[in-house]
Amino acid sequence: MAKKHILVVPGDGIGAEVTTVGKQVLEVIAQKFGHEFTYDEALIGHVAIEASGSPLPDETLTKMRAADAVLFGAVGHPKYDNDPSAKVRPEQGLLKMRKELGLYANLRPIKLFDELLGASSIKPEILRGADILFFRELTGDVYFGKRERIDEGNTAYDTMIYSKYEVERITRKAFEAARTRSKRLCSVDKANVLESSRLWREVVQALAPEYPDVTVEHQFIDAAAMLLIKDPKRFDVVVTGNLFGDILTDEASQIAGSMGMLASASVGDNTGVYEPIHGSAHDITGKGVANPMASVLSVALMLDISFGLKAEAEAVVNAIDGVLKAGYRTRDIADTTTPSELLLGTEAIGQKILEQLSN
Ligand code: NAD
Ligand code: IPM
Ligand code: MN
Repeated sequence: MAKKHILVVPGDGIGAEVTTVGKQVLEVIAQKFGHEFTYDEALIGHVAIEASGSPLPDETLTKMRAADAVLFGAVGHPKYDNDPSAKVRPEQGLLKMRKELGLYANLRPIKLFDELLGASSIKPEILRGADILFFRELTGDVYFGKRERIDEGNTAYDTMIYSKYEVERITRKAFEAARTRSKRLCSVDKANVLESSRLWREVVQALAPEYPDVTVEHQFIDAAAMLLIKDPKRFDVVVTGNLFGDILTDEASQIAGSMGMLASASVGDNTGVYEPIHGSAHDITGKGVANPMASVLSVALMLDISFGLKAEAEAVVNAIDGVLKAGYRTRDIADTTTPSELLLGTEAIGQKILEQLSN
């Protein structure tokens, strides 16, 4: 029996809708497998700014450090998206959390469920069998470099910066993962132009001899973005920087069918944070139509990576598979052939997942 304390941090927009389902899944897993999970909740993002003035209150950070894992929703609000001059912003809370908790490795698996072959705009024969694991560096790069407005506000810069140790620790994780998969690693950079990318490539090249069983290739970010859609199966494990990884994985969501299908694990020196790759999705907030599967699959990653509960993680993934096999769809993964009685909202598809799990 495992005893774990989980902090749920729903954040903004659809964050609350999808983490509600994620937490219900944890409750059923605890019951079914005889574990004791306890929960607490904390604020981040816009809701935290409204309540306390800070996008990441100290109380939230303290609770995060004390938890065995964090189930995170999303942050963001249109109020700030449309106001570039806002000094305090929801996203600052997310970035501070990643930095403070030392979450330097963001694992983003791109797993295509066979049932969703038709949900993508990419041809099924190109997609079938695609299975990619991204290692996105999460605490460096242009996200955390020096930035400034100069020239009386008429000029702005952000610094893309990487140190050797930062590249080395994420690359090692990617090499280790490649060893357990098809032994292929692709490193993505822009070394033909950027100095920080030349350092990145140098570090990856220097590590490669330590993993002689892994075949390494390097791609430039522009070509990688093209190849990902042209032939997703050519990729297995991909390692890349913070910004390139952010963009490539939103693109890769179209391999899995929807942003609502992609989970992630942010791990490093401290508590692991499990979060969908999607945002607060203002366009559908409050409508009850958000796909909760990314949050549920994030729970599966938590069970596996933070708690070492492999069978439990597998049960969660199988429950999603079962619901998809039964034909149930949320709007984002439905197509013209989906009968209306199988088209479900967040809560209803959540119930189907729980039923599958309880079987
Ligand atoms: P988004 O990921 O919120 O939404 C992009 C599109 O995907 C939208 O059309 C949305 O409806 C759809 N979508 C996303 N998740 C879905 C789900 N679970 N089910 C069904 N459809 C889903 O990105 P955006 O619109 O560019 O950003 C909105 C806000 O979210 C911004 O404020 C942004 O800063 C923030 N954001 C936060 C995170 C995060 O917290 N990790 C990630 C990305 C964006
Ligand atoms: C993500 C998001 C964040 C990022 C934003 C909201 C800061 O897009 O988690 O992918 O760029 O890392
Ligand atoms: Mn993103």
